[in-house]
Amino acid sequence: MAEIGTNIEKAAEILQQGGLVGIPTETVYGLAANALNSDAVSGIFVCKNRPSFDPLIVHIAGIEDLSKYASDIPEIALKLANAFWPGPLTLLLHKKDIIPDITTSGLPTVGIRVPDQELTLSLLKNLSFPLAAPSANPFGYVSPTSAKHVNDQLGDKLQYILDGSNCGIGLESTIVGFDQEGAVIHRLGGLSVEDIEKVAGKTKLQISSSSNPTAPGQLDVHYAPKCKIMLESDTAIALEKLPEGSKIALIRYQKLFPEFSAFDQFVLASDGNSKTAAKRLFAILRLLDQYSYQYAIAEPAPELGLGLAINDRLRRASVQV
Ligand code: TXA
Ligand code: MG
Repeated sequence: MAEIGTNIEKAAEILQQGGLVGIPTETVYGLAANALNSDAVSGIFVCKNRPSFDPLIVHIAGIEDLSKYASDIPEIALKLANAFWPGPLTLLLHKKDIIPDITTSGLPTVGIRVPDQELTLSLLKNLSFPLAAPSANPFGYVSPTSAKHVNDQLGDKLQYILDGSNCGIGLESTIVGFDQEGAVIHRLGGLSVEDIEKVAGKTKLQISSSSNPTAPGQLDVHYAPKCKIMLESDTAIALEKLPEGSKIALIRYQKLFPEFSAFDQFVLASDGNSKTAAKRLFAILRLLDQYSYQYAIAEPAPELGLGLAINDRLRRASVQV
Protein backbone atom coordinates (compact mmCIF):
# COMPACT_ATOMS: atom_id res chain seq x y z
CA MET A 1 0.00 0.00 0.00
CA ALA A 2 1.10 3.57 -0.63
CA GLU A 3 1.89 6.05 2.12
CA ILE A 4 -0.85 8.67 2.49
CA GLY A 5 0.11 12.10 3.81
CA THR A 6 0.34 15.83 3.26
CA ASN A 7 4.09 16.15 2.72
CA ILE A 8 4.55 18.31 -0.38
CA GLU A 9 8.36 18.06 -0.28
CA LYS A 10 8.16 14.28 -0.38
CA ALA A 11 5.70 14.38 -3.30
CA ALA A 12 7.94 16.85 -5.14
CA GLU A 13 11.02 14.67 -4.65
CA ILE A 14 9.32 11.58 -6.10
CA LEU A 15 8.05 13.58 -9.08
CA GLN A 16 11.48 15.13 -9.72
CA GLN A 17 12.93 11.63 -9.90
CA GLY A 18 10.40 10.68 -12.58
CA GLY A 19 8.04 8.81 -10.24
CA LEU A 20 4.26 8.84 -9.82
CA VAL A 21 2.24 10.46 -7.03
CA GLY A 22 -1.50 10.41 -6.32
CA ILE A 23 -2.67 14.03 -6.06
CA PRO A 24 -5.93 15.60 -4.90
CA THR A 25 -7.78 18.06 -7.09
CA GLU A 26 -11.19 19.67 -6.63
CA THR A 27 -12.63 17.33 -9.30
CA VAL A 28 -11.17 13.85 -8.75
CA TYR A 29 -7.79 12.49 -7.61
CA GLY A 30 -5.09 12.40 -10.29
CA LEU A 31 -2.17 10.07 -10.99
CA ALA A 32 0.59 12.60 -11.56
CA ALA A 33 3.98 12.59 -13.28
CA ASN A 34 6.29 15.18 -14.84
CA ALA A 35 4.42 16.11 -18.04
CA LEU A 36 7.68 17.04 -19.81
CA ASN A 37 9.42 13.72 -19.12
CA SER A 38 8.38 10.97 -21.58
CA ASP A 39 9.57 8.13 -19.36
CA ALA A 40 7.69 9.46 -16.35
CA VAL A 41 4.54 9.89 -18.45
CA SER A 42 4.81 6.38 -19.84
CA GLY A 43 4.70 5.18 -16.21
CA ILE A 44 1.19 6.64 -15.93
CA PHE A 45 -0.09 4.62 -18.90
CA VAL A 46 1.41 1.43 -17.48
CA CYS A 47 0.18 2.03 -13.91
CA LYS A 48 -3.47 2.53 -14.87
CA ASN A 49 -3.42 0.19 -17.86
CA ARG A 50 -4.48 3.05 -20.09
CA PRO A 51 -4.37 2.75 -23.89
CA SER A 52 -1.73 5.00 -25.41
CA PHE A 53 -4.31 6.72 -27.67
CA ASP A 54 -5.98 8.40 -24.69
CA PRO A 55 -4.25 11.78 -24.08
CA LEU A 56 -3.50 13.23 -20.64
CA ILE A 57 -4.44 16.57 -19.09
CA VAL A 58 -1.54 18.83 -18.09
CA HIS A 59 -1.89 20.67 -14.77
CA ILE A 60 -0.20 24.04 -14.31
CA ALA A 61 0.20 26.35 -11.30
CA GLY A 62 -1.46 29.41 -12.82
CA ILE A 63 -2.57 31.15 -15.98
CA GLU A 64 0.84 32.89 -16.17
CA ASP A 65 2.39 29.52 -17.15
CA LEU A 66 -0.03 28.90 -20.01
CA SER A 67 2.09 30.41 -22.78
CA LYS A 68 5.03 28.13 -21.90
CA TYR A 69 3.05 25.12 -23.08
CA ALA A 70 0.42 26.38 -25.55
CA SER A 71 0.44 28.70 -28.57
CA ASP A 72 -2.18 30.41 -30.75
CA ILE A 73 -4.46 30.79 -27.76
CA PRO A 74 -7.89 32.08 -28.83
CA GLU A 75 -9.31 35.15 -27.10
CA ILE A 76 -12.27 33.20 -25.66
CA ALA A 77 -9.89 30.63 -24.19
CA LEU A 78 -8.19 33.41 -22.24
CA LYS A 79 -11.53 34.78 -21.12
CA LEU A 80 -12.57 31.33 -19.88
CA ALA A 81 -9.25 30.76 -18.13
CA ASN A 82 -9.51 34.14 -16.41
CA ALA A 83 -13.07 33.45 -15.34
CA PHE A 84 -12.73 29.88 -14.11
CA TRP A 85 -9.11 29.05 -13.18
CA PRO A 86 -8.25 27.67 -10.74
CA GLY A 87 -11.22 25.40 -11.37
CA PRO A 88 -12.82 22.42 -13.12
CA LEU A 89 -12.18 23.56 -16.70
CA THR A 90 -9.72 21.98 -19.16
CA LEU A 91 -8.86 23.92 -22.32
CA LEU A 92 -7.72 22.16 -25.50
CA LEU A 93 -5.03 24.36 -27.04
CA HIS A 94 -2.33 24.10 -29.68
CA LYS A 95 0.63 22.48 -27.94
CA LYS A 96 4.20 23.75 -27.91
CA ASP A 97 7.05 21.30 -28.68
CA ILE A 98 8.16 21.23 -25.05
CA ILE A 99 5.18 18.92 -24.34
CA PRO A 100 6.24 15.43 -25.50
CA ASP A 101 3.98 13.56 -27.93
CA ILE A 102 3.31 10.76 -25.47
CA THR A 103 1.53 13.22 -23.16
CA THR A 104 -0.99 14.17 -25.86
CA SER A 105 -1.06 10.77 -27.59
CA GLY A 106 0.38 12.42 -30.67
CA LEU A 107 -2.34 15.08 -30.94
CA PRO A 108 -1.34 18.63 -31.90
CA THR A 109 -3.44 19.95 -29.01
CA VAL A 110 -2.86 19.72 -25.27
CA GLY A 111 -5.50 19.73 -22.54
CA ILE A 112 -4.47 22.18 -19.80
CA ARG A 113 -5.97 23.24 -16.49
CA VAL A 114 -5.20 24.89 -13.15
CA PRO A 115 -6.67 22.72 -10.38
CA ASP A 116 -8.41 24.41 -7.45
CA GLN A 117 -6.86 22.47 -4.60
CA GLU A 118 -4.58 24.07 -2.05
CA LEU A 119 -2.03 21.25 -1.58
CA THR A 120 -1.72 20.49 -5.27
CA LEU A 121 -1.36 24.17 -6.14
CA SER A 122 1.49 24.49 -3.61
CA LEU A 123 3.06 21.37 -5.06
CA LEU A 124 2.84 22.77 -8.61
CA LYS A 125 4.37 26.06 -7.45
CA ASN A 126 7.29 24.10 -5.95
CA LEU A 127 8.01 22.25 -9.19
CA SER A 128 9.84 23.43 -12.29
CA PHE A 129 7.55 21.38 -14.56
CA PRO A 130 3.79 20.85 -15.02
CA LEU A 131 2.03 17.60 -14.04
CA ALA A 132 0.33 15.23 -16.43
CA ALA A 133 -2.48 13.57 -14.49
CA PRO A 134 -5.36 11.39 -15.54
CA SER A 135 -7.88 10.30 -12.95
CA ALA A 136 -6.17 7.86 -10.55
CA ASN A 137 -8.24 4.75 -11.30
CA PRO A 138 -7.56 1.64 -13.37
CA PHE A 139 -8.67 2.43 -16.94
CA GLY A 140 -12.43 2.20 -17.37
CA TYR A 141 -13.32 2.21 -13.66
CA VAL A 142 -14.93 4.93 -11.56
CA SER A 143 -12.73 7.97 -10.79
CA PRO A 144 -11.48 8.33 -7.19
CA THR A 145 -12.71 11.14 -4.95
CA SER A 146 -10.63 10.33 -1.86
CA ALA A 147 -7.05 9.25 -1.10
CA LYS A 148 -8.45 5.95 0.14
CA HIS A 149 -10.12 5.29 -3.23
CA VAL A 150 -6.70 5.73 -4.90
CA ASN A 151 -4.99 3.48 -2.37
CA ASP A 152 -7.66 0.77 -2.71
CA GLN A 153 -6.89 0.27 -6.38
CA LEU A 154 -3.43 1.63 -7.19
CA GLY A 155 -1.83 1.54 -3.74
CA ASP A 156 0.49 -1.35 -4.57
CA LYS A 157 1.88 0.54 -7.59
CA LEU A 158 2.42 3.88 -5.86
CA GLN A 159 4.80 5.12 -3.23
CA TYR A 160 2.89 8.20 -2.10
CA ILE A 161 -0.58 9.74 -2.20
CA LEU A 162 -1.05 13.36 -1.23
CA ASP A 163 -4.17 13.58 0.94
CA GLY A 164 -6.45 16.51 0.24
CA SER A 165 -9.50 14.90 1.84
CA ASN A 166 -12.69 14.38 -0.21
CA CYS A 167 -12.88 16.18 -3.56
CA GLY A 168 -15.10 19.25 -3.39
CA ILE A 169 -16.66 18.82 -6.84
CA GLY A 170 -16.50 15.09 -7.48
CA LEU A 171 -16.82 15.06 -11.29
CA GLU A 172 -13.95 15.43 -13.75
CA SER A 173 -13.27 18.81 -15.35
CA THR A 174 -15.35 20.07 -18.26
CA ILE A 175 -13.23 19.90 -21.44
CA VAL A 176 -13.54 22.79 -23.89
CA GLY A 177 -11.91 23.13 -27.30
CA PHE A 178 -12.26 25.83 -29.94
CA ASP A 179 -13.19 26.08 -33.61
CA GLN A 180 -13.72 29.05 -35.94
CA GLU A 181 -17.11 29.76 -34.40
CA GLY A 182 -16.18 29.52 -30.74
CA ALA A 183 -16.12 27.15 -27.81
CA VAL A 184 -16.85 23.44 -28.24
CA ILE A 185 -17.57 21.25 -25.22
CA HIS A 186 -15.86 17.85 -25.56
CA ARG A 187 -16.64 16.45 -22.11
CA LEU A 188 -19.35 17.50 -19.68
CA GLY A 189 -17.96 17.92 -16.19
CA GLY A 190 -17.65 19.90 -13.00
CA LEU A 191 -18.23 23.30 -14.63
CA SER A 192 -21.77 23.64 -15.98
CA VAL A 193 -22.58 24.51 -19.58
CA GLU A 194 -24.65 27.46 -18.31
CA ASP A 195 -21.61 28.93 -16.50
CA ILE A 196 -19.38 28.47 -19.55
CA GLU A 197 -21.92 30.12 -21.85
CA LYS A 198 -22.13 33.19 -19.59
CA VAL A 199 -18.51 33.88 -20.57
CA ALA A 200 -18.10 32.20 -23.98
CA GLY A 201 -21.54 32.71 -25.49
CA LYS A 202 -23.35 29.85 -27.19
CA THR A 203 -21.31 26.64 -27.24
CA LYS A 204 -21.50 23.45 -29.30
CA LEU A 205 -21.59 20.01 -27.70
CA GLN A 206 -19.27 17.48 -29.34
CA ILE A 207 -19.25 14.53 -27.01
CA SER A 208 -17.75 11.53 -28.73
CA SER A 209 -18.72 7.92 -28.24
CA SER A 210 -17.00 4.57 -28.62
CA SER A 211 -16.96 4.68 -32.39
CA ASN A 212 -14.87 7.82 -32.44
CA PRO A 213 -12.47 8.11 -29.56
CA THR A 214 -10.01 10.17 -31.62
CA ALA A 215 -10.40 13.28 -29.54
CA PRO A 216 -11.41 12.96 -25.92
CA GLY A 217 -10.98 9.21 -25.45
CA GLN A 218 -14.58 9.20 -24.39
CA LEU A 219 -15.30 5.53 -24.67
CA ASP A 220 -18.92 4.55 -24.25
CA VAL A 221 -18.41 2.17 -21.38
CA HIS A 222 -16.40 4.07 -18.83
CA TYR A 223 -16.69 5.11 -15.22
CA ALA A 224 -18.20 1.65 -14.73
CA PRO A 225 -18.31 -0.31 -11.48
CA LYS A 226 -18.72 -4.12 -11.58
CA CYS A 227 -22.32 -3.76 -10.45
CA LYS A 228 -24.59 -3.47 -13.50
CA ILE A 229 -26.18 -0.03 -13.60
CA MET A 230 -29.49 0.66 -15.34
CA LEU A 231 -30.33 4.29 -16.02
CA GLU A 232 -34.10 4.39 -15.88
CA SER A 233 -36.53 7.08 -14.79
CA ASP A 234 -39.30 4.60 -13.97
CA THR A 235 -37.89 2.57 -11.08
CA ALA A 236 -40.90 0.23 -10.85
CA ILE A 237 -40.61 -0.84 -14.50
CA ALA A 238 -36.85 -1.31 -14.19
CA LEU A 239 -37.34 -3.52 -11.13
CA GLU A 240 -39.62 -5.83 -13.11
CA LYS A 241 -36.89 -6.42 -15.69
CA LEU A 242 -34.37 -7.76 -13.18
CA PRO A 243 -33.98 -11.44 -12.31
CA GLU A 244 -35.77 -12.42 -9.12
CA GLY A 245 -33.55 -12.96 -6.11
CA SER A 246 -30.76 -10.67 -7.32
CA LYS A 247 -29.11 -8.17 -5.01
CA ILE A 248 -30.40 -4.79 -6.15
CA ALA A 249 -29.68 -1.22 -5.07
CA LEU A 250 -31.44 1.97 -6.09
CA ILE A 251 -29.63 5.22 -6.80
CA ARG A 252 -32.24 7.90 -6.21
CA TYR A 253 -31.76 11.56 -7.06
CA GLN A 254 -33.53 13.23 -4.15
CA LYS A 255 -36.16 11.00 -2.53
CA LEU A 256 -36.37 7.37 -1.47
CA PHE A 257 -38.50 5.01 -3.56
CA PRO A 258 -41.44 3.76 -1.50
CA GLU A 259 -41.93 -0.01 -1.28
CA PHE A 260 -38.22 -0.81 -1.38
CA SER A 261 -35.83 -1.35 1.50
CA ALA A 262 -34.36 2.02 2.48
CA PHE A 263 -31.13 0.24 3.41
CA ASP A 264 -30.52 -0.58 -0.27
CA GLN A 265 -31.15 2.94 -1.53
CA PHE A 266 -28.56 5.67 -2.08
CA VAL A 267 -29.80 9.23 -2.34
CA LEU A 268 -27.55 11.56 -4.35
CA ALA A 269 -28.85 14.90 -3.11
CA SER A 270 -31.49 15.16 -0.42
CA ASP A 271 -31.30 18.94 -0.90
CA GLY A 272 -32.00 18.56 -4.64
CA ASN A 273 -28.79 20.43 -5.54
CA SER A 274 -26.82 18.99 -8.46
CA LYS A 275 -23.53 20.04 -6.81
CA THR A 276 -24.35 17.85 -3.80
CA ALA A 277 -25.19 14.97 -6.13
CA ALA A 278 -21.97 15.38 -8.14
CA LYS A 279 -19.87 15.29 -5.00
CA ARG A 280 -21.42 11.99 -3.85
CA LEU A 281 -21.87 10.14 -7.13
CA PHE A 282 -18.54 8.32 -7.56
CA ALA A 283 -18.27 7.31 -3.89
CA ILE A 284 -21.73 5.75 -4.19
CA LEU A 285 -20.78 3.85 -7.37
CA ARG A 286 -17.81 2.41 -5.48
CA LEU A 287 -20.01 1.40 -2.53
CA LEU A 288 -22.16 -0.69 -4.89
CA ASP A 289 -19.15 -2.92 -5.55
CA GLN A 290 -18.04 -2.89 -1.93
CA TYR A 291 -21.46 -4.24 -0.88
CA SER A 292 -21.51 -6.65 -3.86
CA TYR A 293 -24.74 -5.43 -5.42
CA GLN A 294 -25.43 -7.13 -8.75
CA TYR A 295 -27.69 -4.43 -10.15
CA ALA A 296 -28.41 -0.79 -9.43
CA ILE A 297 -31.27 1.18 -10.92
CA ALA A 298 -30.27 4.82 -11.22
CA GLU A 299 -32.77 7.62 -11.53
CA PRO A 300 -31.51 10.34 -13.92
CA ALA A 301 -30.76 13.80 -12.50
CA PRO A 302 -32.76 16.81 -13.72
CA GLU A 303 -30.94 18.13 -16.83
CA LEU A 304 -29.80 21.39 -15.26
CA GLY A 305 -26.48 22.58 -13.83
CA LEU A 306 -24.26 19.57 -13.14
CA GLY A 307 -27.20 17.24 -13.85
CA LEU A 308 -26.10 16.86 -17.49
CA ALA A 309 -22.65 15.67 -16.47
CA ILE A 310 -24.08 13.36 -13.79
CA ASN A 311 -26.37 11.73 -16.38
CA ASP A 312 -23.46 11.45 -18.83
CA ARG A 313 -21.45 9.50 -16.21
CA LEU A 314 -24.43 7.32 -15.25
CA ARG A 315 -25.09 6.58 -18.92
CA ARG A 316 -21.48 5.55 -19.51
CA ALA A 317 -21.50 3.44 -16.34
CA SER A 318 -24.71 1.71 -17.38
CA VAL A 319 -25.50 -1.43 -19.34
CA GLN A 320 -28.53 -2.71 -21.22
CA VAL A 321 -30.31 -5.35 -19.16
O1 TXA B 1 -10.80 16.70 -13.62
C1 TXA B 1 -10.02 16.17 -14.40
O2 TXA B 1 -9.94 16.52 -15.57
C2 TXA B 1 -9.14 15.05 -13.83
C3 TXA B 1 -8.20 15.65 -12.80
C4 TXA B 1 -7.19 14.65 -12.28
O3 TXA B 1 -7.58 16.78 -13.32
N1 TXA B 1 -8.42 14.40 -14.89
C5 TXA B 1 -9.04 13.57 -15.77
O4 TXA B 1 -8.17 12.99 -16.65
O5 TXA B 1 -10.22 13.37 -15.78
P1 TXA B 1 -8.56 11.72 -17.54
O6 TXA B 1 -7.30 11.34 -18.19
O7 TXA B 1 -9.20 10.70 -16.70
O8 TXA B 1 -9.51 12.28 -18.59
C6 TXA B 1 -9.01 13.23 -19.49
C7 TXA B 1 -9.72 13.21 -20.77
C8 TXA B 1 -9.36 12.00 -21.58
O9 TXA B 1 -10.47 11.19 -21.84
C9 TXA B 1 -8.77 12.57 -22.84
O10 TXA B 1 -9.25 11.91 -23.96
C10 TXA B 1 -9.16 14.04 -22.84
O11 TXA B 1 -9.28 14.35 -21.49
N2 TXA B 1 -8.09 14.82 -23.45
C11 TXA B 1 -6.89 15.10 -22.92
N3 TXA B 1 -6.13 15.77 -23.80
C12 TXA B 1 -6.86 15.92 -24.92
C13 TXA B 1 -6.63 16.50 -26.20
N4 TXA B 1 -5.49 17.07 -26.50
N5 TXA B 1 -7.63 16.45 -27.10
C14 TXA B 1 -8.80 15.86 -26.80
N6 TXA B 1 -9.07 15.29 -25.62
C15 TXA B 1 -8.12 15.31 -24.69
MG1 MG C 1 -10.46 9.22 -16.23
